[in-house]
Amino acid sequence: MLFVAFTFILSSCKKIDDCTRHFKNDPIPQLSRICFGSCSSQNKAQPILNTIVDKKPDLFIYAGDNMYADTDDMKAMEAEYYKLCKKDEFQRLISNVKTIATWDDHDYGANDSGKHYSKKAESKLKFLNFWGEFNNLERAIHEGIYTSYYWGDSIHRVQVILLDCRTFRDDLVTDANGNYTQNQDPNVTMLGSEQWKWLKTELTVPSKIRIIVSSTQFARSHDGYEAWDNFPHEQEKMIQTIKDAHANGVVFISGDVHLGELSKINPAGLYPIYDLTSSGLTQLEGVDIPNVNRVGDVELDYNFGMIDIDWQDPNNVLLNMKIGLLQGTEKLKYSIPLNDLQF
Ligand SMILES: [Fe+2]
Repeated sequence: MLFVAFTFILSSCKKIDDCTRHFKNDPIPQLSRICFGSCSSQNKAQPILNTIVDKKPDLFIYAGDNMYADTDDMKAMEAEYYKLCKKDEFQRLISNVKTIATWDDHDYGANDSGKHYSKKAESKLKFLNFWGEFNNLERAIHEGIYTSYYWGDSIHRVQVILLDCRTFRDDLVTDANGNYTQNQDPNVTMLGSEQWKWLKTELTVPSKIRIIVSSTQFARSHDGYEAWDNFPHEQEKMIQTIKDAHANGVVFISGDVHLGELSKINPAGLYPIYDLTSSGLTQLEGVDIPNVNRVGDVELDYNFGMIDIDWQDPNNVLLNMKIGLLQGTEKLKYSIPLNDLQF
């Protein structure tokens, strides 16, 4: 029986390995165009991935809900990963563009779930295997899937921090109408103590630009759905952690909510914090959800996020934030001088 189970695990892993072994892994001397996206159903065609490849980004980031597993059956999860993997457009993406990922609730395993999802350790193994990350020992060893990457020389260094907003997250609380509401308990956590400790250190590593990838939105105003705003003490802790580390050049990117938008907050004693949200690659609601922190227009069509870094003038580096559409059109187009993201 054990032998049969072992053979099955090996054969299913092999299917995924065959599928994902074409991940592009060439060195990236300098990051100038980053694309990202979230919320992609493995059961739908994904032509937007072709649009992304045609934009020729240096890096693509999956910001979560990269497929919809919603199961505690790991064989079923493997099968859902395999559906995504064998798509021609997915293969074209990963073989042409360096691709990295974090997860959100649906690929973690259960809708809106946190630390009590019972299969989080097993799901992590599926995730690492699928995204070609088994050689990332640091990521494999600790609990959860948070990690970081660096590209570029010291003048052009970009740090990409992938947060894990699921493995350690305490339960959400709801109001009488069933909407999520702010939990004012200072002891509840989004990231958990080990991830916070790691993040504090990460933010002291020298880098010109720091892109923090949070599957759930960091800077949008309260709306009764999932967001950092449901954990106000954790949101404040993030602000304080950036301040304590004296970390310049931080911007957030996020997904999850089936629309595209740019949010901005102005914390006391810190430069403005932006959060560019892109969702979804295949999933839409077509409904605008008011956000008083929004800058520019909301995008309700299929979309992906873009950050074009203009390094041309070393004294005035620009982060050009955009939302890309299926047809290739670029919207939003909000330019942030890196000089504005400094202490
Ligand atoms: Fe989600």
